Amino acid sequence: MKPDTYLFEISWEVCNQIGGLFTYIRSKIPTMLDTYGDRYLLIGPYFSDKSNKHFRPLRDIENPALAEAVRFARELGFKVHYGYWMLEDARPKVLLIEPVLQKERSHEVKARLWSRYGISSLRADSFRDEVIAFGEITRMILEKTVSSMTIEQDLITHFHEWVSAGALPDLHYDKVRIATIFNAHATLLGRYLAANEDNYFQHIPEYDWQQKAYEYGIEGRVGIERAAAREANVLVTNSDVTSQECEFFFHRVPDYIIRNGIHKKPGAGHEVFEKHLLHRQKIDAFVKSLITPSYSFQTDKVLYFFTSGRYEYYNKGFDITLRAIAKLNEQLIASGSDISVVFFIISKRPFIHIKPEILESKKRFQDLQKICKEISKNLGPQLYSNVIGLKSNALPDLNNLLDEELYLTWRQAKAQFQREELPPAVTHLLEEPDHIVDFIHDSGLDNSESSKVKIVYHPDFIDQTTSPLSMDYLEFVRGCHLGIFPSLYEPWGYAPMEAAMHGTPVITSDLSGFGRYIQSIILPENEEGIQMLHRRYHSDEEAVNNLTYLLSQFVDTFEKEHYVPRVNLPKSISDTLCWTELMRYYRDVYRLALIRHQPIANLY
Ligand code: GLC
Repeated sequence: MKPDTYLFEISWEVCNQIGGLFTYIRSKIPTMLDTYGDRYLLIGPYFSDKSNKHFRPLRDIENPALAEAVRFARELGFKVHYGYWMLEDARPKVLLIEPVLQKERSHEVKARLWSRYGISSLRADSFRDEVIAFGEITRMILEKTVSSMTIEQDLITHFHEWVSAGALPDLHYDKVRIATIFNAHATLLGRYLAANEDNYFQHIPEYDWQQKAYEYGIEGRVGIERAAAREANVLVTNSDVTSQECEFFFHRVPDYIIRNGIHKKPGAGHEVFEKHLLHRQKIDAFVKSLITPSYSFQTDKVLYFFTSGRYEYYNKGFDITLRAIAKLNEQLIASGSDISVVFFIISKRPFIHIKPEILESKKRFQDLQKICKEISKNLGPQLYSNVIGLKSNALPDLNNLLDEELYLTWRQAKAQFQREELPPAVTHLLEEPDHIVDFIHDSGLDNSESSKVKIVYHPDFIDQTTSPLSMDYLEFVRGCHLGIFPSLYEPWGYAPMEAAMHGTPVITSDLSGFGRYIQSIILPENEEGIQMLHRRYHSDEEAVNNLTYLLSQFVDTFEKEHYVPRVNLPKSISDTLCWTELMRYYRDVYRLALIRHQPIANLY
């Protein structure tokens, strides 16, 4: 790329966590900054309640062409914010656009979508209106930027998913001097059809995309997605299944299939294990604070299982996982096993607040811990002076040695800690019940003492500052023993990949991009931490049974051999999943986009 070529990456998940695309963008940033430095900019939407958390505004925009474009947009009354995205390991520059258009302008854009590309807005909703507004303001800013650039300067724009790509078709139609890439991380039809149609994967070539889009009420959204995918100079996707969807739903074969990466492999084997122990202690503390107010519970014979991801109940395989977990519970009870499992479900749902009883018991647990420390401080010298000169070997009654006041504080704190009810299965007060809550309720997984599998449904992202677990997501993942991800529709699947790369064993599926990548490479023989659940030619019933078997085997090995595997991928494999390695494919993508966009100019 010439030194004066700019790269703008446009995504709805810039400073805005929703799903795997956030991880894609977020994890790629250090490598992008190393490669493109100041010529790299991220563009995303601005939401006053969310965006400010990690955003620090900057007054001046160094790039004169962009500064001019932003001034122009602001003069027209659009709210555009420029600044740093404040991340732990990088501070990229971002432009955040408030996705609001006046009614008249919105009608104009909708009329243009219809007349140019036949995209209907008859069944538009407020979200699609935001997408249209974001697209239009982005288009204006990009056009204005490039019009103020010199003829030697190039601008490459990399759009992710339909939500961010409203601007793309017009840039092409209006022959704006900008190279465009559309990255399909999934397809809308795929998300809908996989969850609702029988044997979706076998039928992809036969579906009538238009009729199906209409049937599911998403023709306007699919229209934008399809136009962006067809008009882009280069079409990229992340797996062979999505590539097939592009072929049949967009009638365009992607130019590149590029797997997803993470920033870098985190440490060697022993380091990974030490971190596991460290983070497990934090989970232990949370679990004790949750369960022990109701009954006594030891964490030395417990396994922590989890699943996580965007709330797509069937696509993420939450249905299969919960059914298998319920069966595992029955099996463990029937066999009289002394192992318990705590199963965490992490997914973002609308909630009102964290349940007060969760925060309360956490606080009371910490109080108890403090008092215990006080007691041991107090008892030490007492014990010492009382045993000196004793003839018998028996220790004196500790209750009699303890300071009266401290004893009382202890008894009070203990009494306040106890509760009548069973440990709550959901950590937050949800705005309304969902499939997960219904399943927990119907299956009788009630967290009672006799239940061998305890459920913790955490309907929010795990984050040090906001989660009752008081840890970050990756710390949590490292502290767990097993991640369960039997996805049905999963173009790539960051959750199992991240877990495995951080040493935590996973069950993934042969329908996820990551799962198929793992199947395609030869894993070392001693690598038992990545298991595959076959879903492609299997019924849900079979998947549930096979998953139950894998889970009970995992518990068995722990019970009989006191052994829990950790994943330790050799460098030759983990390197292939790091952005530093994968960036070269994107360099080819950008080169091709420039060539297709300006074939003559690129000859010189
Ligand atoms: C989408 C896909 C997911 C993928 C992510 C990043 O969210 O559904 O499978 O991992 O994009 O590419």
